[in-house]
Amino acid sequence: MKIFLDSANLDEIKEAVSWGIIDGLTTNPTLLAREGKEPKKLLKDISKVISGPINAEVVSLDSAGILSEAEELIKIAPNIVIKIPVNQEGLKAVKLLSQNNIKTTVTLIFSATQALLAAKAGATYVCPFIGRLDDISQDGMSLVEEIAVIFDNYDLSTEILVASIRHPIHVVQSALIGADAVTVPFKVIEQLLNHPLTDAGIKRFLDDWEKLKK
Ligand code: E4P
Repeated sequence: MKIFLDSANLDEIKEAVSWGIIDGLTTNPTLLAREGKEPKKLLKDISKVISGPINAEVVSLDSAGILSEAEELIKIAPNIVIKIPVNQEGLKAVKLLSQNNIKTTVTLIFSATQALLAAKAGATYVCPFIGRLDDISQDGMSLVEEIAVIFDNYDLSTEILVASIRHPIHVVQSALIGADAVTVPFKVIEQLLNHPLTDAGIKRFLDDWEKLKK
């Protein structure tokens, strides 16, 4: 399973990349706005650190606007993937971009039917938002299961990029389902790695080693 970092913070990005586990990156307007920098300049700086796909989201609501934003975004770096919210205008843009071999992620997916239509329009990735479904007492992970079965039934090449991940169990469940990729906030990536017994084990080894010197 590919692990994408869900962040626009350069320090976090550099740190996670240095661990050798990051396959790509997702941003969204909220994450870019949080950094308070010029978004295209920030995406350019990010592209110097991330060699895999970098998701940059459009904010236009009409297909013409989405396409002209996409034209600008792909100039930033060859690995930019255009992230587009799922709706009629979004699908029109996805279709045209995919015909021109430009990679797209269809985002804000909350139903299996949205994912199916995005795949049919030619999306490279679909992003089911599982945390936001859990937030309203719906089971986000069931949505990932449904999409996985549907894509498998029809051999659809669109990849499932599980988003809105809130804790390590979301990552484990995505991997058990066989999702192609997860996009994970830095804090959750740290949680994936940490274990109190590992810390206690290191401490005990070092304490015992010290005793040898006495
Ligand atoms: C990434 O592609 C999504 O925009 C992000 O995972 C959304 O996460 P949130 O629901 O925690 O804002």
